[in-house]
Amino acid sequence: MSETFDLVIKGGTLVNHDGIGKRDIGVRAGRIAAIGALAAASAGEVIDASGLHVLPGVIDSQVHFREPGAEHKETLSHGSRSAVLGGVTAVFEMPNTNPLTTSAEALGDKVARGRKGMFCDFAFYVGATRENVDELPELERLPGSAGVKVFMGSSTGNLLVDDEESLSRVLAAISRRAAFHSEDEARLIERQGLRREGDPASHTQWRDPQAALISTQRLVRLAKEHGSRVHVLHISTGEEMEFLSQHKDVASVEATPQHLTLTVPQAYEALGAKAQMNPPLRDAAHQKILWWGLGQGVVDVLGSDHAPHTLEEKALEYPASPSGMPGVQTLIPVMLDHVNAGRLSLERFVDLTSHGPQRIFGIACKGRIAAGYDADFTIVDMAQKRTIEDDWIASKCGWTPFAGRRVTGWPKGTIIRGRRVMWEDEILGEAGGEPVRFLEALGVG
Ligand code: DOR
Repeated sequence: MSETFDLVIKGGTLVNHDGIGKRDIGVRAGRIAAIGALAAASAGEVIDASGLHVLPGVIDSQVHFREPGAEHKETLSHGSRSAVLGGVTAVFEMPNTNPLTTSAEALGDKVARGRKGMFCDFAFYVGATRENVDELPELERLPGSAGVKVFMGSSTGNLLVDDEESLSRVLAAISRRAAFHSEDEARLIERQGLRREGDPASHTQWRDPQAALISTQRLVRLAKEHGSRVHVLHISTGEEMEFLSQHKDVASVEATPQHLTLTVPQAYEALGAKAQMNPPLRDAAHQKILWWGLGQGVVDVLGSDHAPHTLEEKALEYPASPSGMPGVQTLIPVMLDHVNAGRLSLERFVDLTSHGPQRIFGIACKGRIAAGYDADFTIVDMAQKRTIEDDWIASKCGWTPFAGRRVTGWPKGTIIRGRRVMWEDEILGEAGGEPVRFLEALGVG
């Protein structure tokens, strides 16, 4: 007797906990029901994945989708369309929207908007402020909450917790792993005069490696004092990577495709203020140590830090030009190109984009191709050669710092809970995103 599934993905090369090998996948009711040789099975829908690699759904644990408050830059709909076109199945979105995501009401509003208009699954970080510390234990466990985000240095928006006493209060209050933008605010203020009008390259001199290192050292010290787990976002400097390699008991580490791919001064020469972000892009010597950390397993996850601004805003004269660049749609092609160039294995890519987020954030039933897990898959063509262009970008901002880059390796399909959401550059069906669930908050949503 043959088995029956809603969906069978046949003939693909799977990359999962078992290694890399040819296996079919059977899906029932949005979940993985069987992995193996399923040629005899009957199915409502069959996807032929011959010649393709089937990865666990890629989770981008750092994006800014700007809704509510700055919908002229991005919306949850545009941002999530951009995600699924790029092969991403779930995103964790940042709290520096307007209003800030610092209350149960603001989080609930975002979750409702996400359910209505997002094409991928989602969770939203809650921003810590000096005023909401006492509410954080409740806020970090609400349905759809990705946990707490702390800005230790100012960036876009005005979320900031930079004094040691308040940071200690935050760490003492929360129990989930929190995410940190780690740059030392006092040093940033002290060095503001180093910014040169009209010269975005001075951004990297202003927000120097020391500003990042001092802040990260302080964060790790406080995390050890409080027995907390901290996630240090977008590591940009070699010094931090070496330091964090000694503190993996408390610290998980994110790297971004742009810090791993673009270097200064070339990026400023080619892109001007489009290359301006916080923490800034650095030179090749730093980048080399970021790759060392990636190779040594110090880096836990890749996040795109998708932070769109309009071309008009980016055309303002530095330092009026805002910091941040889009990236959710280009994370996979840019990184698969690095895989093809031999800089990391495909297994390590999966470790960084699925297993890593599952492990450090305690995601329930996502991040692995295993029976009982959500049927989320990123299907990629490792041989496809293509040039990344602005006109492929679905983000409302309509541009990418990687325009003109020829890559090998491309997202072919995005499957979320058994639904084919993207196939060959086309979005299929309506928005159907749902909140990601977390082990430490099961039973609340
Ligand atoms: O460059 C950045 N832009 N870094 C951040 O931390 C925030 C982001 C934004 O929201 O624009």
